[in-house]
Amino acid sequence: MKHLAVIPGDGIGKEVVDIGLEIIDAISEISQFNYDAELFDIGSERYLRTGELLTEEDISDLKKKDAVYFGAIGDPRVRPGVLEKGILLNMRARFDQYINLRPVTSWHPFVPLKKHFDFDICFIRENTEDFYMGAGGTFRNGSRTQVNVKRELYELDMNIDTRSSSDDDFAFEIGMLSEKGIERFADYSFMTAEKRGDRKLTLVDKANVCTSIYGMQREIFSSKAEKYDIELEFMYVDAMAMAMIVRPDTFGTVAVPNLFGDILTDLGAQLQGGLGMGASGNINPKGVSMFEPIHGSAPDIAGQGKANPIAAVLAAKMMLDHLGHEDMGTLVQNAVRRCLDNGMYTKDLGGKLNTKEMGAEIKKEVLKG
Ligand code: NAI
Ligand code: MG
Repeated sequence: MKHLAVIPGDGIGKEVVDIGLEIIDAISEISQFNYDAELFDIGSERYLRTGELLTEEDISDLKKKDAVYFGAIGDPRVRPGVLEKGILLNMRARFDQYINLRPVTSWHPFVPLKKHFDFDICFIRENTEDFYMGAGGTFRNGSRTQVNVKRELYELDMNIDTRSSSDDDFAFEIGMLSEKGIERFADYSFMTAEKRGDRKLTLVDKANVCTSIYGMQREIFSSKAEKYDIELEFMYVDAMAMAMIVRPDTFGTVAVPNLFGDILTDLGAQLQGGLGMGASGNINPKGVSMFEPIHGSAPDIAGQGKANPIAAVLAAKMMLDHLGHEDMGTLVQNAVRRCLDNGMYTKDLGGKLNTKEMGAEIKKEVLKG
């Protein structure tokens, strides 16, 4: 019996999570997958009512679950960043979800490339280090600035106190990678490549310019490569951006540090047909992982039945994989593929179906087995 936490969140988050839950329910009817689901009222409505974002009680309740199924958050009535930082980023940090997993798959005919490639890339983005640690500061009029970074992962308590000797204003942001952080990222990447049966792992970086952090990353990945029977390939991020357009079919598992991963995975989302198609997992292999569509709450189409639920359904697929039911995950993926092949899709993809109709089509295919 698996215990799921469900956070539909805001806007279309609710609409697409409803569909995802229907699919999970259909899976439980036809397989050994047994589950219960507890709904969590986390998002803008509660925030506007009570001022609460993610409470300690939420955290301790969520900690007891096997996985979290998340819709989206974001509300025009709330200042940008409040919900995103207070809920989403907070959850990723509190559960130390250090891997962001993003599959990029060719779903013909929605691949916007002239040539029809068949590709199946699994991006593994490191989710906690690099330039996204909040280690920055601004000097104004030569004033003193202070950076505080507290890290439990490697017991670092960094406190930089600097003074500019010029009157010019400037700002800086420090990117950091730790041995421990790289090691767990490398292990997860190699294990994923192994599981997928990929013969090579691609590591993306900019080791020719940011030589310190990405040099260390290359060293650690190289030494790990000896343990696994997998070839390690290095790609500079700029070359990778081009290669994703001209030869996406030559990549399998791709490991990419935080900042570059943010950008490349959005490129990947478009390569596979847009926001309505992209799913992701925020993974802590030993803790609570969270699965979500990559899109936001889409206030412009919320409540109109226009949302494409496929991203949320594919997030449910990833959750099934993660919970050890890969056969059912594959079944869901195949059901989606058959719908698309049969011309059944929503308006964002040029089709006619609304959210519920799309869900019903996927469910019909799932129940065929
Ligand atoms: P968005 O992803 O919500 O929407 C961008 C555009 O894509 C909109 O035109 C929307 O209608 C369309 N779209 C998105 N998902 C779709 C789907 N499933 N089917 C059809 N069309 C879809 O990004 P936006 O507009 O920048 O942000 C809206 C709110 O969502 C903001 O508050 C933002 O902070 C938040 N957000 C939350 C995320 C999360 O919860 N993971 C991720 C991204 C944004
Ligand atoms: Mg992004």
